[in-house]
This record gives sequence, structure tokens and C-alpha cells, in this order.
Amino acid sequence: MSTIRRAFATSPAVRHDNPLGLPARRPAPQIPRRGGPIQKRPLPYVRKVLAVASGKGGVGKSTVAVNLALSLAMQAHAATGAPARVGILDLDIFGPSVPKLMGLDAAPEPRLTQSGAIVPLTNHGLPCMSMGLLLPREANADTAVVWRGLMVQKAVQQLLFDIDWREPPQEGGAELDVLVLDLPPGTGDVPLTLGQLVNVDGAVIVSTPQDVALSDVRKGVTMFQKISVPITGLLLNQSHFLCPSCATPHHLFGSPERFHATAASMGVPVLGALPLVPAVSEASDGGAPFVLAGTSTNTEKAGVEWRETMAAVAKSVWRFLGR
Ligand SMILES: Nc1ncnc2c1ncn2[C@@H]1O[C@H](COP(=O)(O)OP(=O)(O)OP(=O)(O)O)[C@@H](O)[C@H]1O
Ligand SMILES: [Mg+2]
Repeated sequence: MSTIRRAFATSPAVRHDNPLGLPARRPAPQIPRRGGPIQKRPLPYVRKVLAVASGKGGVGKSTVAVNLALSLAMQAHAATGAPARVGILDLDIFGPSVPKLMGLDAAPEPRLTQSGAIVPLTNHGLPCMSMGLLLPREANADTAVVWRGLMVQKAVQQLLFDIDWREPPQEGGAELDVLVLDLPPGTGDVPLTLGQLVNVDGAVIVSTPQDVALSDVRKGVTMFQKISVPITGLLLNQSHFLCPSCATPHHLFGSPERFHATAASMGVPVLGALPLVPAVSEASDGGAPFVLAGTSTNTEKAGVEWRETMAAVAKSVWRFLGR
């Protein structure tokens, strides 16, 4: 099977209508013109699509997305007991985090199937795809994506429709039960493109407790409602800090009351409240998400609370998706 032509290669194959330089295949659905019919499509080889989003940047979406994907992969089908097949797609074109969080930042170039679809890269048992896996990896290449809107929209379309998530990636390969999407912050082009083209089955909106983040939560909820994406629930991140020497939760970024009041006023459920845990950040930086850290090596009470909350969130999401 051939390998993918790196995005940003100088090849004429990399044009505004084919930013990832993929071989010609059937076209992705087009963004509908104003007033035109909306052509939402299911994603190939994916049964349910879950978006992880936030109105504000830096609130922990990517951290939640990878840990939630791995926690969903620990769920089992009620009828058969078969383990869930879950993947993660990073739709943050300008600031992809999934390669680093999943320990794939030095991974080899993804390959292509015979029909020209990209094969995801797998680490910790989780198939992953990200713009960051398609950028050139020369030494010291801090490559930045410098694309305008149309190019970004096309790249998002290719990432959505040109990945073969089956295992193995061929006729009869197992499809994904759930694809988790790590979205960029805000209500810009990417969530809109997604909402217009894809049947998204649920959205988890992550926020921190500060007022400035909460006003963006309202915008995020409104945007998903406008594009008819069901809101699975809100997730409060960095809700409190449990220091090892006392038993009182410290609300470093303000009381969670305002967050709960915001959720209630919008009629959306709260899925959980994750504490601020330095080990979560360290695990992310080390490329092995925190939910993978063995319980025996992580007995600190904040870490235990974080893991238990994430497991409960995964259960609620699994139920919401009807799996
Ligand atoms: N509960 C937590 N405890 C400790 N650190 C956390 C927690 N949640 C997130 N972090 C840290 O906060 C930083 C930002 O997290 P992350 O990159 O997941 O945010 P993001 O919302 O995806 O950002 P962006 O909007 O830039 O995509 C990271 O260093 C991450 O490790
Ligand atoms: Mg992120």
C-alpha cells in the first residue's frame, strides 16, 4: 500500500481542494450553499460520533477527549459482552494535541489503503488520526499550519471522510462503535463544517468554573443546538483541588455553583466534575493518558476521584449513545 503524501508537500496534488494530498477518490460531501439542502452523512466505518468541545480554549478538551475515548474503550456491549471499538479524531487543525497526548509524536507516516483512504495510527490500543500525524517530521520542524478558511474546511472534510477506521482496514474489518472528536475551541469553521456534513450523535462540552469560561459554555451549547447536535452533557474540569495534607476541596477557580446554575438554566445535564490533578498533566505530557495509570501506582485521593469520575462519565456517554 502506498504512503500518504505529507500535507504541505510542494506537490501539485496538495491544492486547496485536496489539502492532505490524497489520491483521487469519491468526493466528500460539499458544504451546502446558502438555502441549499443539508447533506448530512454518516462517517464511513463509524457507528456513533461524539464531539468533545468547549467555547473557550485551554479548558482541558483534548485531555478529556483522549481519556474519555480510552474509558469508552473499556465499556462492553450489554448483549454480547464484546469490548467497545473506539477511535479518536483530532479536528484541531491549527493546534493538534492528540499525537503528543497519545505518545505518537514520533510515529511514522500513516499509510494509505489501496483505495486511497488514510489508515489511523494506533497506540495504547486506540486508533488515532490528527493533522499533527500528517505534518512533516524533520528535525526541529515546528511546522505551523498557515491555511485560510476554505483549505481548513477541506482538510476537515478529508479527515472526516477519508479515514478507514476498520480493523483490519479491509472488507469485513471491524467498524468503530464510537469515534471521539477532539474539536478546536470556540464556535468557528470546524464545528460548523462538522455539524453541516456529519450526523453527530452527541456533544460533551468541557468548561472550567470561571465566569469567563461559563459565558462561552452558553455559546457552545447554543451553537450545537443550532446545528442539531444533541448535547450529551457538560463536564466541569479543574473543578477543585485536593491537597494531600487536608481533606477540604479548594475551589481555586471559583465555586462550582455557578457552573451548575448555568447547566440548569440551559436544561443540560452535568456529567461530572474532575479535580485538578498534577499527575493528569504529567501523564499527558508523557504520552500515556492518566486513565491508563494503574490504580496501584496512583492511590492519591485526587487521582482516584479523577479516574472514578472519568469512568462514570464514560458510562453515561455509552448509555447516551445507546451502545
Ligand atoms: N483536570 C486536570 N488536572 C490537571 N491538569 C489538567 C487537567 N485538565 C487539563 N489539564 C492540563 O491543562 C492543559 C490544557 O489542557 P488541554 O490541552 O487538554 O486543553 P484544550 O481545551 O484541549 O486546549 P485547546 O483549546 O488549546 O485545544 C494541559 O497542560 C493539561 O495537561
Ligand atoms: Mg485541545
